[in-house]
Amino acid sequence: MDKILIEGQTPLAGQVRVSGAKNAALPLMATAILSSGLLTLENVPNLRDLTTMANLLRHMGGRAELAPGRAGLDISALITPEAPYELVKTMRASALVLGPLLARWGRARVSLPGGCAIGARPIDLHLKALEAMGAIIDLDGGYVVARAPQGGLCGAHIHFDTVTVTGTENLMMAATLARGRTVITGAAREPEVTDTALALQAMGAKISGLDTDELTIDGVEALGPATHRVMPDRIEAGTLIVAAALAGGRVMISGAPHQALDPVYDKIREAGVTLTLEGDVLRVESDGPVKSTNITTRPHPGFPTDMQAQFMALMTVGHSVAMITETIFENRFMHVSELSRLGADITLEGRTAVVRGVRRLSGAPMMATDLRASASLILAALAARGQSEIARVYHLDRGYDRLDEKLMALGARIRRVRA
Ligand code: EPZ
Repeated sequence: MDKILIEGQTPLAGQVRVSGAKNAALPLMATAILSSGLLTLENVPNLRDLTTMANLLRHMGGRAELAPGRAGLDISALITPEAPYELVKTMRASALVLGPLLARWGRARVSLPGGCAIGARPIDLHLKALEAMGAIIDLDGGYVVARAPQGGLCGAHIHFDTVTVTGTENLMMAATLARGRTVITGAAREPEVTDTALALQAMGAKISGLDTDELTIDGVEALGPATHRVMPDRIEAGTLIVAAALAGGRVMISGAPHQALDPVYDKIREAGVTLTLEGDVLRVESDGPVKSTNITTRPHPGFPTDMQAQFMALMTVGHSVAMITETIFENRFMHVSELSRLGADITLEGRTAVVRGVRRLSGAPMMATDLRASASLILAALAARGQSEIARVYHLDRGYDRLDEKLMALGARIRRVRA
């Protein structure tokens, strides 16, 4: 398994472009199941999770071509509507095929995702909502076995009392081919949900209420071919901003989705980092002390949970004490014990991490546990004195497009050792 070695305390300089968003590309690939034509995606990032999704679509009998920056997806042939455990266990977002399979083919057999490092992450809300549309759902041997009623799914009023991003995406996709109108209240407002809706509209879907917590979808007979450009990855952009803040120096980040990043920009500025927007380019300058800043993760437009670990890395060298509260997942503090190996002073009190800033971090060997934790360890290592080593970087490659190479191009002393 690959390792990443980092020699800390080298200021960053130069320009970097943000890649396409993982959490938009995944639902966008699933929308291809709904279409009777070719879906072409541009600005597709090079990520392991997308390869897994492509393999899943091929397993079903579809055509899924991934090339650097683009994907060609045609699932118009009759397919095997099944997502097997060996694929789903490596990527929970496979559950996103459930709604499209039911809507287009009337049946689905999808492995339950099982838990993951950051929490149980059930899909009960997805299943309950699909039942409200008339789906008959059984659980059999760890699989969801679902079928649509005679005549197909029916439009319904669906209310999510817990905001669920992929739950909203699953039901929005299912509703595009259902009979009649579906209204989803309590819908997730993440920008990636909107990006998926824009692609569905290009395919002929009738969806309104984008960017709000109430989506209205009027079912249509069929969806056709489309071309869609995947939105930039706001979490990769936020990760690069924190890298520049921790390493010091001046970095120009191009292609970031600024509006989608407002909640992150606010907190990064509060932490004393200078962010200057120059058209499409964001200039990040950090030469002063880091101000300890409290955050609480919330559904969009709140502070994103996917930036919590990275922001915690920044707070480890804050001037005082920062309170970091995680409200979305029950176990998303796996990076705390690893950051402590660098000398960080963090104590957990329930869902809040109390981060007391220290004057200096010192390099050490660490182990990645999940996707965003692995990014957080790299960021902290950039600020630490001496060498750090991060093992199990396969977590990183699931969701970041060559982050180590991007940081190296900005002058970081970072290299990957293929084990
Ligand atoms: C999406 O996961 C993202 N993944 C996650 O990004 C992100 O952290 C999360 O949304 C929250 O923003 C993709 O978009 C592929 P949820 P998702 O359903 O949809 C509970 C990353 O690092 N819940 O919004 O799976 C759930 O347990 C990943 O890129 C239920 O109880 O998350 C969690 O506590 C990590 N029952 C909360 O809701 C359900 O049926 C929010 O989960 C569904 C969710």
